[in-house]
Formats: sequence, C-alpha cells, structure tokens
Amino acid sequence: MNHAGVAILILCSRCFAVTIDHLEVPSVVELGTDSIVLDCQYRTTSPMPAGLVMKWFFNGSSGLVYQWIPPLPPQVIGILKGKVDIGFRISAEPLQAYRAIKILKPTTDLSGNYTCVVSTFIQEDQRTRDMIVYSPAKNFHFFQEKKYVFLVTLICKAEELYPKPDMAILSQGKPLEQAVVDTKMNSWGLYSVTAIAEVHDDDVTGASEEFVCRLSLPNTNYTKLLSTIYYAGSIPTTHTVYGVQRPQHRQASSGTAINYSQSLGWIFITFLALRR
Ligand SMILES: *[C@@H]1O[C@H](CO)[C@@H](O)[C@H](O)[C@H]1NC(C)=O
Ligand SMILES: *[C@@H]1O[C@H](CO)[C@@H](O)[C@H](O)[C@H]1NC(C)=O
Ligand SMILES: *[C@@H]1O[C@H](CO)[C@@H](O)[C@H](O)[C@H]1NC(C)=O
Ligand SMILES: *[C@@H]1O[C@H](CO)[C@@H](O)[C@H](O)[C@H]1NC(C)=O
Repeated sequence: MNHAGVAILILCSRCFAVTIDHLEVPSVVELGTDSIVLDCQYRTTSPMPAGLVMKWFFNGSSGLVYQWIPPLPPQVIGILKGKVDIGFRISAEPLQAYRAIKILKPTTDLSGNYTCVVSTFIQEDQRTRDMIVYSPAKNFHFFQEKKYVFLVTLICKAEELYPKPDMAILSQGKPLEQAVVDTKMNSWGLYSVTAIAEVHDDDVTGASEEFVCRLSLPNTNYTKLLSTIYYAGSIPTTHTVYGVQRPQHRQASSGTAINYSQSLGWIFITFLALRR
C-alpha cells in the first residue's frame, strides 16, 4: 500500500470503527428455562461500515456458532444449530437487528464461554463471558439406616445434577470426615452423587443430634439442605431399609462379623413390611 492509501485509511479509520459496549450473557441459567438471550451490544461510527461481520464463538476460536453479515440473514452453526429462534430480532435497526442470539430451552452442554467478535475491514473488537446452565437435583433424599444398636448409617443421594456437585454431611455445621462421597456421570453428562457416613452413638452429643446433608453446585447459587434427627440408642428398625444393595456391601467391607440369622430376620421383616 502506498503512503497516500495509508493516510486515507488513518484519516478515515473512524468510518470503519466498531466497538462492543456491552456483552449480555446470563451467567447462571436453570435447566428448563424457556429461552435466554445473548446480546452483543456494539456501536459503529459510520452508518454502513465496510465489511461489517459479527460472529459468536463457543469455548474458543474453533467453536463458531453464529455469524451475521448484514444485510444477509444470520447463520447458526455447530452446537447451537437447531436451538436458536432464527427469526429473533433485538432491534429494528438494520445494522443491529440480528446481533443477539435467542436460545430456546438451553441445555447443560451449552455451559461455557461465549465470545462475540465484531469486525470491519480494518478493526475488530471482542468480548467473552461465561454461562453455566445448571441442572437442579432430582430425587434428593437423606435418610438413616439403623441396623446395629450403637451405630447409624446416614445416606444422602441426589440425581441428574450439573455441573459436578459438592455434597457433605454436616454435624453442628462441620462436615463429617468419615463420609464417603461417590459421584458418577451418566451418558447425558449429568451427575448423581451419594454420601454415606456411619456415626457411632459415642460420637453423638446428647440424646439426639441433627445431621444435615448439604448439596451444592459450584459457580451457581444452588444449595439445598436436608436434615434428619438421630436418637442415640434407638432400636434398629427396618422402615428406612430401601437401599438394600449398598448397605449389604458395606456390612461385608466394614469387617463386622455378620450374624446371618439376624440379617435374614431383618430381610424377612422388610419383606413383610414391603408387602403391606
Ligand atoms: C473460558 O474463559 C476463561 C476466562 O475467561 C478461561 O480461563 C477458560 O480457559 C475458558 N475456557 C474455554 C474452554 O475456552
Ligand atoms: C466449554 O468449556 C467449559 C469450561 O469453560 C467446559 O466445562 C465445557 O465442558 C466445554 N463445553 C464443551 C461442549 O466443550
Ligand atoms: C448469588 O446470590 C447473591 C445474593 O443473593 C447475588 O448477589 C449473586 O449475584 C448471585 N450469584 C449468581 C451467580 O447468581
Ligand atoms: C445371631 O442372632 C440370633 C438372633 O438374634 C442369636 O440367637 C444368635 O445367638 C446370634 N449368633 C451369633 C453368632 O451372634
């Protein structure tokens, strides 16, 4: 390019200027939300800047998901394909109309970084924001299993969570160190989690104690609590024995000698209780 050309570009750089003022991306969205809008609010200094292109990327520069070159219609690409209201216009102005993306029924796999890039022939601006689509708990339960006189097993479970959950069983506000937490991901990318803690009557302060199961999803404000009160010295019962498999496994691995005639008795009572 000759000097005159450079001078013209410098003098006229305002003709092509583009600036992103604000990137509106909801940081936390609950799964099941009807729709959300990601809005890239930009400004151009000329009414028809040469070569205006706007693009949205998901999780970095290789994840193009949306492209709009006014006055052509926008294109939805990649992970957002089929999930966007293609007729959605956020503004009546021709250079602003399709700058935003309306995502219908956002799913957890859309959690990540969204980058808006707006460019003209000589200038470019970009902004990135994070979004997390979380899945609240299904089947969140906290219960006691009382099979031995001096011992109670506390079990807390929850399913279909996203992102990877944190679970703790608390006694007087402090997590029980002996709790074993097991987290699994299913083929949909959702997590189930179980926390199990055995508490000996000697460790129970007073005649009874309240235990709390705390479930939370990191980087969201989602926290749920369930509590149960254990009465020390209570008689073994069968009414909470629904999780049959895992407790049997724990009996075997805990090193306690199993009194088969006793266990068979409990299984029989459970069987009778369930039949009712
Ligand atoms: C998302 O953005 C954050 C900070 O903006 C960055 O640390 C992280 O690596 C990005 N993740 C991906 C997958 O691009
Ligand atoms: C996008 O990046 C986030 C981290 O920023 C990560 O948790 C998520 O799994 C990524 N999503 C995909 C589909 O790669
Ligand atoms: C979490 O809750 C606090 C207080 O209600 C609020 O100020 C904050 O913005 C929330 N954070 C998110 C990520 O929703
Ligand atoms: C097992 O339990 C039964 C019934 O409570 C009792 O009669 C028996 O003595 C116990 N056996 C052992 C080995 O503890």
